[in-house]
Amino acid sequence: MSSSVRDPLNKAWKTLRFPSIKPAELLSLFLKAGLVISTFFLITLFFYLTLSYHQPLTHSNITTFKYILQKHKTIQKEEPTNISHILFGIGGSTATWHTRRHYSELWWRPNVTRGFVWLDKTPSEPWPETSPPFRVSADTSSFKYTCSYGSRSAIRIARIVKESFELGLGDVRWFVMGDDDTVFFTDNLVTVLSKYDHNQMYYVGGNSESVEQDVIHFYTMAYGGGGFAISYPLAAELVKILDGCIDRYSQFYGSDQKIQSCISEIGVQITKEPGFHQVDIRGNPYGLLATHPVAPLVSLHHLDYVGPIFPNMTQIDSVRKLITSYKTDPGRTLQQSFCYDLERNWAVSMAWGYSVELYPFLPTAKELEMAFRTFDTWRSGSDGPFTFNTRPVSSDPCKKPLVYFLDRVQNVGGDQTRSTYRRHVDASVKECERAEYGRALAVQYVDVSASHFMQDLWKKAPRRQCCEVMNGADDANKVRVKIRGCHRFESVSPP
Ligand SMILES: *[C@@H]1O[C@H](CO)[C@@H](O)[C@H](O)[C@H]1NC(C)=O
Ligand SMILES: *[C@@H]1O[C@H](CO)[C@@H](O)[C@H](O)[C@H]1NC(C)=O
Ligand SMILES: *[C@@H]1O[C@H](CO)[C@@H](O)[C@H](O)[C@H]1NC(C)=O
Ligand SMILES: *[C@@H]1O[C@H](CO)[C@@H](O)[C@H](O)[C@H]1NC(C)=O
Repeated sequence: MSSSVRDPLNKAWKTLRFPSIKPAELLSLFLKAGLVISTFFLITLFFYLTLSYHQPLTHSNITTFKYILQKHKTIQKEEPTNISHILFGIGGSTATWHTRRHYSELWWRPNVTRGFVWLDKTPSEPWPETSPPFRVSADTSSFKYTCSYGSRSAIRIARIVKESFELGLGDVRWFVMGDDDTVFFTDNLVTVLSKYDHNQMYYVGGNSESVEQDVIHFYTMAYGGGGFAISYPLAAELVKILDGCIDRYSQFYGSDQKIQSCISEIGVQITKEPGFHQVDIRGNPYGLLATHPVAPLVSLHHLDYVGPIFPNMTQIDSVRKLITSYKTDPGRTLQQSFCYDLERNWAVSMAWGYSVELYPFLPTAKELEMAFRTFDTWRSGSDGPFTFNTRPVSSDPCKKPLVYFLDRVQNVGGDQTRSTYRRHVDASVKECERAEYGRALAVQYVDVSASHFMQDLWKKAPRRQCCEVMNGADDANKVRVKIRGCHRFESVSPP
């Protein structure tokens, strides 16, 4: 059987055998083939350059052709955006730097973060090593400024993006502007910016929290104190028209308004990222921070104008404390999670790394995600409106949660963290005497365990993470909660 099958194949193979070729003939064959191929390539290249290229031939020689190919290749295998790709431009002034510098120094990492503080004149004192390096802005006396209630320094601050661009520093993908009292959370800033293609024209930032501000200074604007990011290609177009814009929009108050007016001439729109915080509020920022949107915390601003974010601490120490949480788990910082303990009829809501609320009843998810109005609007000190919904703080202690603030946070091995929150007692407010509050009042600590937040989750559809209360009434003094990703069909629905 085998031979009858194999024979025809053998024959076929024999007839297909190569004729015997001498080495010299083979060489000439190769040379001829090579000549044909390279002629074809040259003709194709010639036609490509003359016919298909839009620019005149003089601008599109082989060097530029190669350059285009090279660029295509580098775009394909480009590294993800990191901190080195950002050039910061901080609007400062020589007279006030010594009182403001501590905010920049909280987040500035010498030799890691790149950028400058832009000053109005050369400082006479030695420049602190822990501060970002400074530059002195160019003279702006020839520009127009006609806003009766503002300051001419807005012109100088608006031009920081142009002066930064014109430094011509290499490998800059984003120009990030901020004030001297802006605190950036740079890991999260990188996470947010890396979602966007820096080769396109992007303008990323956030609005004011106070509607009255957005009405006056526009909803289309990224507020300068919360900070904003301009991608390199947008900066390249912006700097060409910026000086003209500064004169055209001389009646506008702020540098950020002048920048946005100029960007509106280009037609690029703001990309709103809810983690940029202008903090245009007065009073206690608690409500704002305890219900952070499901987005990375990118910046905080105006911290000298609101109460300390942790009670009984200076503001600067408060921010340092929040930064200990941020350093332990940047992506999870302030992220809200809440769950019910149906055994005790309790609800627990936490803003990771900051605070926990314990309710001896079951508010709906809709209530829990809404900020307590512990603050007023920026300009008129009114009770609203804000760009998000708020709920009043009841004067009835039986309608209020017990509040716990961060005590400490630590890594506990693997990718797990543990944060502990301690009961905050406001001596000026009397306690609820109802029975269901009695058991809750015994709880002095809340212990929260969580795994490190995977920054990649920020590229997915945003969903608040779930939690569960881990212990029953056995430990009256402490509630233990675990935060985790939600299960399928899991929801915070009352029974
Ligand atoms: C080719 O184009 C590049 C960039 O446009 C230019 O620097 C170079 O001088 C040109 N070479 C020739 C031979 O024209
Ligand atoms: C950022 O990425 C660039 C590549 O584009 C790389 O050269 C640089 O070392 C990176 N910087 C950091 C801090 O990872
Ligand atoms: C930053 O780099 C400079 C020059 O390389 C060096 O002299 C300086 O000590 C570095 N500073 C820090 C804080 O690493
Ligand atoms: C406030 O802080 C001071 C000093 O750190 C401390 O002695 C005091 O007990 C604190 N008060 C409250 C209510 O925590």
